[in-house]
Amino acid sequence: MKTMGNKENNIKKPGVKTLSIHHGETFSEETGCVMPPIFSTSTFNYGNKQNFDYTRSGNPNFKILENVLKSIEDSKYCTVFGSGISAVTAITSTLKSGDKILCESNLYGCTVRMFDKIFKKFGLEALYTDFTDKESIKKIKDFQPTLIWLESPTNPLLKILDIKSICDEANKHKIPVVLDNTFSTALIQKPLELGATLSLISTTKFINGHCDALGGAVLTHDEEWNSKMLFSQKALGLQPSPFDSWLITRGVKTLPLRIEQQTKSAEIISKEFENHRIISKALYPFNKKHPQFNLAKSQMKSGGSIITLKLNLDKADTFKFCKSLKYFSLAESLGGVESLICHPATMTHASVDDKTKNLLGIDDSLVRLSVGCEDTNDLVSDILFALNKF
Ligand SMILES: Cc1ncc(COP(=O)(O)O)c(C=O)c1O
Repeated sequence: MKTMGNKENNIKKPGVKTLSIHHGETFSEETGCVMPPIFSTSTFNYGNKQNFDYTRSGNPNFKILENVLKSIEDSKYCTVFGSGISAVTAITSTLKSGDKILCESNLYGCTVRMFDKIFKKFGLEALYTDFTDKESIKKIKDFQPTLIWLESPTNPLLKILDIKSICDEANKHKIPVVLDNTFSTALIQKPLELGATLSLISTTKFINGHCDALGGAVLTHDEEWNSKMLFSQKALGLQPSPFDSWLITRGVKTLPLRIEQQTKSAEIISKEFENHRIISKALYPFNKKHPQFNLAKSQMKSGGSIITLKLNLDKADTFKFCKSLKYFSLAESLGGVESLICHPATMTHASVDDKTKNLLGIDDSLVRLSVGCEDTNDLVSDILFALNKF
C-alpha cells in the first residue's frame, strides 16, 4: 500500500479519516499483508535494505506509526517514544545545566515533577507563569528562557493559551516552544501550524484510544530537533515496544470517529450539568462561560472530550460521587473509548506541592471527566444519577 496523497493517484490530499487508516508502507511487501506484522525483534541483519540495526534506535513498527502521525499532523518529522513522559524526557535531556524552561503554570503533574525533582538536580531551572495573562507573553524575553513549555488545554484546568501569540513572541527571540497537544491531538489543533517548534503527544491517550498501550511522540519541521529526538530515543533508551507501536497504529485508524463521538457527548454533558446545584463550575473550552471561550473557538476545531467540574462537595463526598458512577471508572488517564473520571488533586497532580495546587485551584472538589464513546444518553443519566444522590 502506498502512502496516500502522492501525485501518482492524481487526487488532492486525502481527508484525515483516510490518512488515519492508510499508514503507507507495511515493511513486508513480499507477503501482501494488509495489516503490518509486529516486528518483534531486538536486532536486524547487518546491511539490510532499510538500514535497521537495533530496535532501540528504530524498528518498522515505529516507522509505520511515525508515518501516520506525521501525515495527520502535516509535520516533516516524528519520533516515537515509550510514553508521553519519555517524550518529555527526550526533549528536556537536550538542555544543559544553567538552562531555563519557561512553563505555563498549569502543566501535567508528572511533567512538573520531572522538571523539579529530576532535572533540577542537573542544573536546569523551571520557571512558571500564567500564560493566559497577556503581560506574560510580552515578558517572555525578560525570563531569558532556553525553551518554553505549554499545554493547551491545560491538564486539568482546561486553560486555553493563545498558542500563536506566544509562539510569535518566542520565535522573534529564537526561543523554541514545546506544545503538549495530548488533550487535543492534531484533529483539533495543529501546534506546528500555530508556530510551535515541537508538538508533543502522549499517544497513550486519544491517539491509541483503548487504554491498552503506552506511547509518546514528538513532531517537528526542524531537522536539527528531529536528529536530537532520534538521538535521545536510542541514547536514553526511550523507545516504545514494537507491540505497543502496532497497537497504537491500529488505534489511530478510528481516531477521527472516536473524537467525533466523544466531542459530541462532551458538548452535551457540559451544557446539561452547568447549572446543577452540586456543580459550582463546569469547565469546557467550547462552553460560553469558559474564560477563554472566544480564543478556544478560534484556535480549536472542537472543544474536545475532557470536562473539568468543580463540585459543591467535600473530599469524601467528591469520592462518593466518583465511585457511584457506573460508566465513568475512577482511574488515571484519559482519551479512551471508555469514560473515566479522575481526582487530579490526589491522582494526576498528587506530586505537585499543596501550595501550588491551592494557588492553581486544583482542590479536593475538582474532578476531571474523560468522555468516552458510550451512548450519550447513558453517560448523561449516569452523571445525573450520581449527582442526585446529594
Ligand atoms: C498532558 C499530558 N502530557 C503528558 C502525559 C504523560 O503521558 P504518559 O502517561 O503516556 O507518559 C500525560 C499523562 O496523563 C498528560 O496528561
